[in-house]
Amino acid sequence: MAVEARFWLRIVVVIPVIFLGIITPTQAQTVNEKDLIIGFSQVGSESDWRTAFTEITLAEAAERGISLLFSNAENSQENQIAAIRSFIEQRVDAILLAPVIETGWTPILLEAYAAGIPVVIIDRNVTADESLYLTRVSSDFVLEGRLAAAWLVQATSGRCNIVELQGTVGSSAARDRQIGFNQVIALFPDMRVVISQTADFRRAMGHEVMANILHTENVSEICALWSHNDDMAIGAIEAIKEAGLDPGDDILIVSVDAIPDIFAAMMAGDTNATVELNPYMAGPAFDAIVTYLNGGEVPKWIPVPGGIYFPDTAAEEYARRKP
Ligand code: AHR
Repeated sequence: MAVEARFWLRIVVVIPVIFLGIITPTQAQTVNEKDLIIGFSQVGSESDWRTAFTEITLAEAAERGISLLFSNAENSQENQIAAIRSFIEQRVDAILLAPVIETGWTPILLEAYAAGIPVVIIDRNVTADESLYLTRVSSDFVLEGRLAAAWLVQATSGRCNIVELQGTVGSSAARDRQIGFNQVIALFPDMRVVISQTADFRRAMGHEVMANILHTENVSEICALWSHNDDMAIGAIEAIKEAGLDPGDDILIVSVDAIPDIFAAMMAGDTNATVELNPYMAGPAFDAIVTYLNGGEVPKWIPVPGGIYFPDTAAEEYARRKP
C-alpha cells in the first residue's frame, strides 16, 4: 500500500475505531491458552505440504488445549472471507489466516480489527497495511527462490535453459519464489527461463503442463525444471518419463517444500534438490497470540527457517518425515 494511502487508512478508519472504544486496548492479564478459541482459515488441500501443515496445526492446537475452528477454503478467497466473518461473529479470541492470494484482504482485516480480534497471517503474505494484523509467521520465499537458483547455477556451471512451473497465480509464495530465483540467474548471462507456466501448486497439473511443454518444445534444449513446489515436480517427473527422458539427469530438477514423496523420488534418482518449507508454524503463531493477549510485544514478522536437501541425505530425510 502506498504511504499516502496508509496515512489515510489510519486517519479515516483506524484512529476513529480506537477513539470510539471499539478496540479494547491490550491490558496486562493472564490468558491461559487452554481457554482460547482460535479460528483458522486454511487455503485448501492442493499439495502434500498443505495437508501436512493442516495436520501439524490441528495437532499443535490439540496439544495446547486450544479450541481451533478449522475452515478449508478450497483455494477460494471468497470462502476465506466468509470464514473470517463467521469467526468474528462467533467472537473468537484470535484468527489464523493462511491467505490464498496476496491482495484484497484490507476490508475483512478491518472488520477483525474493529472487533478487537488479532489476526496472525501464516505462510503466504498479504499486501494489507501491517497495522491490520498482529504478526506474520512464515518462511522467506524470496530466499527459497535464491537457494534453488544458486544450486542450479553451480550444477550447470552457469549455462542452462530452464522450464519454470509456477505456483498459484497471485500468491506471494509463487511471486516471491520467482523473484528470488530470477535475481540470482540474472547474474549469469547463459542462465535463462525459457518457458514459465502455472500449474497451481498441484501434482496433476504439473504432469499435464509439463507433458504439453515436452510435446511442443525442443526438449534437447531444456536443461532443468524449476518447480515452485514438490508436488508439481512429482507430476512433471512422470511426464518426463513418459516422454522417454530421464528426470534428474536429462532434465535436472529443483523444487520447494521437502515433502516425503520428493525424498522418495530423490532415492530413485529422479530429482536433484528441494528447498525446505518448514510446516511447523502453528507453535510460534499460538505463542504470539498468547504473548499479545497478555500485553506483551510481538514482532511484525516471525521467520521460520528451512534448508536445502540433496540425494545424499534423501533416505534419512524420508525416514524422518514420512507420515
Ligand atoms: O504457500 C506455500 C505453498 O503452498 C507450498 O509451497 C505449496 O506446496 C503450497 O500449496
